[in-house]
Amino acid sequence: MSVTVLVGAQFGDEGKGKIVDYLSAEMDMVVRFQGGDNAGHTVVNNKGVFKLHLVPCGIFKKGCKVFAGTGMVVNPDELISELAEISSKGVDTSNMFVSSRAVILMPYHIELDNLGEKSGASIGTTKRGIGYAYADRARRTALRFEDLLDLEHCKKRIEKILPTVNSELKGKGGRSYEVEEIFEKCKHWAKFFKHMVVDPVSFLNKAIDSGEKILFEGQLGAMKDIDLGIYPYVTSSNPVAAYAAVSGGFPISKITNIIGVMKAFSSAVGDGPFPTEMDYEKANGFRGDGNNIDDEYGARTGRARRLGWPDLTLVKYAATINGFTELAVCKIDKLDDYEEIKVCVGYKLDGKEIDYMPPAYRMYDIEPVYVTVKGWLKDTSKIRKYEDLPKETKEYIELIENYTGVKVKYIGVGPAREDIIIK
Ligand code: GDP
Ligand code: IMO
Ligand code: MG
Repeated sequence: MSVTVLVGAQFGDEGKGKIVDYLSAEMDMVVRFQGGDNAGHTVVNNKGVFKLHLVPCGIFKKGCKVFAGTGMVVNPDELISELAEISSKGVDTSNMFVSSRAVILMPYHIELDNLGEKSGASIGTTKRGIGYAYADRARRTALRFEDLLDLEHCKKRIEKILPTVNSELKGKGGRSYEVEEIFEKCKHWAKFFKHMVVDPVSFLNKAIDSGEKILFEGQLGAMKDIDLGIYPYVTSSNPVAAYAAVSGGFPISKITNIIGVMKAFSSAVGDGPFPTEMDYEKANGFRGDGNNIDDEYGARTGRARRLGWPDLTLVKYAATINGFTELAVCKIDKLDDYEEIKVCVGYKLDGKEIDYMPPAYRMYDIEPVYVTVKGWLKDTSKIRKYEDLPKETKEYIELIENYTGVKVKYIGVGPAREDIIIK
């Protein structure tokens, strides 16, 4: 049995796409288990440069199945155009499957998200309709891909659901939708997806039990988990590892390893507390000017990311709630030019060190406890062997391991697939 779950250990955008693309060489299937097209996972490989939003990053490995799982909210139009774009670059997309239980993200979810973000309750979402699709799931007014398999039933479901949707839209000053308009879309999606929709529980359990190597790819990171993150500045799903089993419909005991992906410093997009955040200008060294694929601008929205010093207290919290068996540290090369690196190894609140993650409204008052480590002032981007890394880089990696209690297995030294060191 080989079930690997790979998740973000910070606020998202840690480099998950790059690591999944690398690891997919040895996988039979890669599954996205939550989220929607709010994700932007960057992959740079021999096929080109890609920013994937819904398609799992295993798509580039010949013969590897890719699966949009139950815990996802999928905008079918986005998935159709993403597959077309990938396929236009010569990548085989015939191995894509979609869970019959995945939620269909509708045009009205996007409209509601945009209206919500204009209101006083905005939290800086990606405006892709994610929260509203999950809200429909929770109040049992969502359509799922299984509903596309019987169009008569599908129409009845739309007739039942739409009045609730329209009254919410009206309350927020939005337009209303006709049954026919949504039904036409469903007919189109049914044609496109019919052959890709499978029952997730039998599909995944059979694959796991027959010994296939499967990787579950998380979106976002621990701090944006709806239950365990910086609520309310979170997404509407659970990007933590245990949710892969809920989403996949298999027992947690079948998970064999859990990889946490962290960035060598910290970044976040959207509102909310960020204990080690730097002033915008001071972080320009991390950010870049936006002309390079690895500059710190959102792969989904293009927003300049908020940036800060590495926060190991936060990564340790992520390790606690996820149970990482190994870590991947991306963007080590982006610390090459720093004489000193400030590393957060504790939080103080009201003058006292704390050993828990406080509520988001109190996190603004956190005083990070820093240790300063010596930088290496050497180019690490061409290094491929751990022993060839500068002494100070190794010391930083060891600090991460000692503080979080998790071994570092992968070290990213550039955006491309081959820019990696296996420790
Ligand atoms: P994801 O959402 O976790 O997949 O991460 P994103 O793709 O949104 O953001 C990660 C960014 O870092 C992208 O621009 C990647 O190209 C880049 N990246 C990933 N790993 C490395 C690395 O080791 N070094 C450098 N320089 N860039 C990296
Ligand atoms: P990947 O998968 C970074 C953030 C938004 C906002 C919050 C809720 O590339 O790591 P949502 O649209 O989900 O309702 O927004 O989550 N957010 C992301 N930040 N990377 C992402 O994806 C994100 N997806 C959502 O900025 O704070
Ligand atoms: Mg991203």
